[in-house]
Amino acid sequence: MTEERDLLERARSARARAYAPYSNYPVGCVLEADDGTLFDGCNVENASSPVTLCAERGALSAAVVAGRRSFRRIALSTTGRVAVAPCGACRQALAEFAPDLEIVSEAGGDVRRWTLSELLPAQFVLDHTGRRAAPSRDGEETG
Ligand code: THU
Repeated sequence: MTEERDLLERARSARARAYAPYSNYPVGCVLEADDGTLFDGCNVENASSPVTLCAERGALSAAVVAGRRSFRRIALSTTGRVAVAPCGACRQALAEFAPDLEIVSEAGGDVRRWTLSELLPAQFVLDHTGRRAAPSRDGEETG
């Protein structure tokens, strides 16, 4: 398993590639799959602000298209003095695949840790079929 400091270093390097000219708040992250594979993400802003993509969901998309659907950790790096937690939309997106994800976040020298289940204790699940909406196995294609 990758050392936490190496994950954070990699998140910092992803942050350096962020496209954040409107907020001037670059975010970088690394999503670690259960098999140890790492997926980088950064925020990608847009002149039309709601079109902006958060770093976490960028990494999640890269991971899913690479065939990964279960994850153990995410590391985030932002500027500022206080380490931040993922936004609400990203919590919901990540919880679909990893409700117990470990989260580590850094800003400047500040490092904070949470689990996703403590940040999103009542995840929305689409329940009309009587089963969890999330696919359960990596590499499995579902319709
Ligand atoms: N942002 C993320 O990338 N992840 C989060 O969890 C919170 C916010 C980005 C979106 C936007 O580009 C900038 O941070 C300021 O909101």
